[in-house]
Amino acid sequence: MMQFQRLPAFALKISNQAGRFVCTSSSRAKSFRKMYQEVFTPNLVNKPPYEHFVQVGDPILRTKAAEVPEELVNSKEVNLIAEKMVKVLRKFDCVGVAAPQIGVSLRIIVMEFSEGLKDHFSKSIYEARKMCTLPLTVLINPVLSVTNYDKHKHHEGCMSVRGFSAEVERYDSILIKGTTLEGVEKEMQLSGWNARIAQHEMDHLDGKLYIDHMDRATFTCTCWETVNTKGGRVEIPFYK
Ligand code: CO
Repeated sequence: MMQFQRLPAFALKISNQAGRFVCTSSSRAKSFRKMYQEVFTPNLVNKPPYEHFVQVGDPILRTKAAEVPEELVNSKEVNLIAEKMVKVLRKFDCVGVAAPQIGVSLRIIVMEFSEGLKDHFSKSIYEARKMCTLPLTVLINPVLSVTNYDKHKHHEGCMSVRGFSAEVERYDSILIKGTTLEGVEKEMQLSGWNARIAQHEMDHLDGKLYIDHMDRATFTCTCWETVNTKGGRVEIPFYK
């Protein structure tokens, strides 16, 4: 965080291109919020790249992310953003992060399906969803093409739509090409769940979310049963 803040010129460039938006609420609400913030959080400065996931409603999730300029590949700035993405991915035990999800509107994704995640799923689910290990992969300016148009429908969630999931159809196999942090061109053929992860993260770079093409009848609050058993005393955390 501190290191990133020492790079105002770069941050400015991002915000000029596609970056953050100011909340568009009424001026009265805005002035109340400002007063509240000043009273209760006088020194709070929280700037992207965040260590939390921005949530649906944040305009950055609906913005087409900007390409990372070639000269910035393997730069300190981009490496720091990627580092933060990996940190957030592992902190929240998830399998993919797109830069807009931590408040940076650039075309960078990270994916990882670690060996340890195998224990999170029953063998039948692991096999039905065609899950398999995917080593940590960071891709800059990725491009995806479908190599097998068969579709599979499974429950999918998103850390930016925290607390919900729904069934989403995704293509069976894809080819993804991009640039590594070191500036090397890389391509990967992915199928099954890993192809799903790639399709989900690519959507984020184009301002799309799974809720845009989910089977709406399957949209589920992931803790709906606990809401009943605990008499409603359940919270969905946005931090970890
Ligand atoms: Co997502």
